[in-house]
Amino acid sequence: MAVKADKIWMDGELVDFEKATVHVLTHTLHYGFGVFEGIRAYQRTDGQSHAFRLDEHIRRLYDSAHMIGMEIPFTRRDLTDACVETLQANALAEGYVRPIAFLGSEAMGLGALNNRVRVAVAAWTWGAYLGEEGMSKGIRCKISSFNRLHVNVNMAKGKICGQYVNSVIAKREALAAGYDEAIMLDVNGYVSECTGENLFFVRDGRLITPPYGGSVLGGITRDSCLHIARDLGVAVEERLFTRGELYVADEVFLCGTAAEITPVREIDDRRIGPGRPGEFTSMISKAFFGIVKGDDPAHAEWRHTYRV
Ligand SMILES: Cc1ncc(COP(=O)(O)O)c(C=O)c1O
Repeated sequence: MAVKADKIWMDGELVDFEKATVHVLTHTLHYGFGVFEGIRAYQRTDGQSHAFRLDEHIRRLYDSAHMIGMEIPFTRRDLTDACVETLQANALAEGYVRPIAFLGSEAMGLGALNNRVRVAVAAWTWGAYLGEEGMSKGIRCKISSFNRLHVNVNMAKGKICGQYVNSVIAKREALAAGYDEAIMLDVNGYVSECTGENLFFVRDGRLITPPYGGSVLGGITRDSCLHIARDLGVAVEERLFTRGELYVADEVFLCGTAAEITPVREIDDRRIGPGRPGEFTSMISKAFFGIVKGDDPAHAEWRHTYRV
């Protein structure tokens, strides 16, 4: 999908899409020292648009930057406003927003302590990340031959540009083998997450996901699913588990800003439950979409409203 938009916010101002360019010697292009976010904006049935959990995404952007020792030269308020301004400048009543902070091209070499920190925010229309059919019927996953990076090799809780090579090679391996998504194990063999999504499974009416303290990204959709499950009275567990437990799960689903809530119907050619989205997945997905796109008044604090 070629991304197209009218305007991109760059270093404090909105510029034309074609002018939002960087030099080939941009430090982050070579070494991956940068941080980013992915945020979805939705329009609800009453016509109101909102950026979903925008404050939490901006907080994670600054947390990611702090983890790698990068100082973003704008306040959180500036970048929160920039996300909304970018949606508005592109007349997007709903869409996907991508803020990124990266090092400029002043000097090469790893240290580059004096390179300027540059910031951009783009927004565009993005449909179902894992396909409409995947959302409605479930996708096919493969346990990756690549592990999620060890917690002392990367900053698991950060959305750090260079770390995504790990996700990209796993995703490409899965796609090339004919699957839709890769499930990554941690270095000890426990299930971690997917390349851009957290993972849940259901067994005997309990919803289970790997613990926050491990190798997973602290997904904001994951957190939303945990809240929604508790709101619905579903028993939730955060604990370690192996791929064997996944094979015999009643239901498996993935969640993330891009993927939203995507059911999994097969893992490593083994059918999961009945091979179609199960009762709990459907219940959580219905509640999630009621909050973000429907008319459910719950969790108003998650909706950063704006006008187009
Ligand atoms: C590796 C990884 N895990 C999980 C997620 C899901 O996180 P969120 O729900 O905050 O988008 C993402 C996407 O941001 C991701 O890149």
